[in-house]
Amino acid sequence: MSLKWASVPLFLLLSITSGLCGASSFENTAVVRTVELGGSVVHVTTTYAIRALENNLKTYTIALGKEDRAKTSWVEVKVKGQDNTLPFTERVEKHLSLFDVTLPKPLSGNKTLNIVFENIQTHATTPWPQTAAQNEDQALKYTTDLFVLSPYSTLVQRTKLRALTPRFISWAEPQGIDAFVGDAAVTKNGANVVYGPYKDVPPSTLDNFLEKYQQPVTVHYFHEQPVLEVRKLNRAVEISHWGANINIQDDISLYNAGPKLKGHFSRIEHQMQGYNKKGAPHVLPALTLGLPPGIRNTYYYDTIGNVSTSKLRVAPLPPKGAQRSQYSILELRPRYPLLGGWNYSFTLGWDAPLESSASYDKKTGTYIVAIPILTPIPGAVITDEELKIILPEGATDVSYVTPFPALSAVMGTHVTFLDTVGRPSITLRYKNLTLKHAQEIYVTYKVSTLAHIKKGLTVATALFTLFVLAGVARRLDFSINRKKKVQ
Ligand SMILES: *[C@@H]1O[C@H](CO)[C@@H](O)[C@H](O)[C@H]1NC(C)=O
Ligand SMILES: *[C@@H]1O[C@H](CO)[C@@H](O)[C@H](O)[C@H]1NC(C)=O
Ligand SMILES: *[C@@H]1O[C@H](CO)[C@@H](O)[C@H](O)[C@H]1NC(C)=O
Ligand SMILES: *[C@@H]1O[C@H](CO)[C@@H](O)[C@H](O)[C@H]1NC(C)=O
Repeated sequence: MSLKWASVPLFLLLSITSGLCGASSFENTAVVRTVELGGSVVHVTTTYAIRALENNLKTYTIALGKEDRAKTSWVEVKVKGQDNTLPFTERVEKHLSLFDVTLPKPLSGNKTLNIVFENIQTHATTPWPQTAAQNEDQALKYTTDLFVLSPYSTLVQRTKLRALTPRFISWAEPQGIDAFVGDAAVTKNGANVVYGPYKDVPPSTLDNFLEKYQQPVTVHYFHEQPVLEVRKLNRAVEISHWGANINIQDDISLYNAGPKLKGHFSRIEHQMQGYNKKGAPHVLPALTLGLPPGIRNTYYYDTIGNVSTSKLRVAPLPPKGAQRSQYSILELRPRYPLLGGWNYSFTLGWDAPLESSASYDKKTGTYIVAIPILTPIPGAVITDEELKIILPEGATDVSYVTPFPALSAVMGTHVTFLDTVGRPSITLRYKNLTLKHAQEIYVTYKVSTLAHIKKGLTVATALFTLFVLAGVARRLDFSINRKKKVQ
């Protein structure tokens, strides 16, 4: 017992010293951070050219300041030029987060490697000015930390902030960092504002460096695309063995998070801008979405009714075993152009053959169905999603695998009119989703033959009841109701 206790401080001591030694175990020969300035989504890629200073190094640590971490909704680490991601664990400290990345194989002294750290930030820009008239420009502000932090010393580092156009209004001039600056602390070069190169930066994750040199820098730039936010996405996915069908329905609350419209909206002016092929940058006339191949019965309606001004080109289902398939392309045209500060809520749904996303394991009698978490809306963040997966009635042994953790997950029962005992359901919650999160959840379950039969019986009875009701209905006048529905 006493021996065990005695070993605890020793162990702690070891981990502390190894933590401190970390500072001299690597050297960054070059660090380049590229920030793709966007609207509601900002994509940051940092490449670390690293050199091992000791033998047998297994872990490399990447640092991210607290503010940048708070805006980050996706993190991915790879060796440059490779597809596999590297596993990491995150440690949260007072002013920063540390990501301990496991290297693909231990690195020996003087060996080098290029590591790419990607992070996606959401809600990271602010429209400025906060309002704009219909024919005015849209400009955004973005703030980040000046230095890329690292527990290791860095020979040279720079940060490029890249906009869609070369039109910047202003950028911050760093203060008090002459020690690291060669020619200029910041330069503008076409569509890039570049901080650095900064030379011989010591380990920068320590408090004294942070207090003395780290500072926020803000750039102010024109952005010629609408800033889109899906404030709420409710996706319901219903798996039906009876119809061999999978139905996906999205209830989408879209918001234009650009500058709020100043004055009135003029449709004539909007149309004139359309003729000149130069719509206002903050007005959204239409969206192009990539839906699954082989879909049918696609529907799109809003609070007023069906919206018929959209175009859909359905891609064929890929042959069995094909790696990649094409998307069906939907050009979705909201009922009105979406201006800054405006909302638009609508419902989009479709059916797809179950076999396009399901498979059956005969040995275990298990079905496996791949469920897409979201359909990306280009450039938009999904601030809040509730995903409900409804399984066939009588499904048992339900389990699922998610590509990244949900904020919450609840198993329940979904009861509909035709069901006897209700259907098992899984409800997942997410926040701040982007293109990177457009992945699949794998759900597995069993359905006994008995359940199939029971279901068959229920439907048969229900159909009979409907038949009788329909006979009665034919003699009643439902035209008002129908009209309302059709619009
Ligand atoms: C979502 O993003 C906002 C703004 O970047 C952030 O404040 C919030 O903590 C994020 N929420 C989650 C659950 O990541
Ligand atoms: C790295 O190379 C230098 C000179 O080439 C050598 O002096 C040093 O010992 C090497 N370091 C390691 C850890 O092998
Ligand atoms: C847009 O919707 C949000 C809630 O989702 C609401 O707070 C806001 O007032 C709406 N804006 C307009 C212009 O209706
Ligand atoms: C909407 O349009 C589709 C065909 O485009 C039609 O089948 C459906 O009944 C319509 N729904 C409503 C509510 O009008």
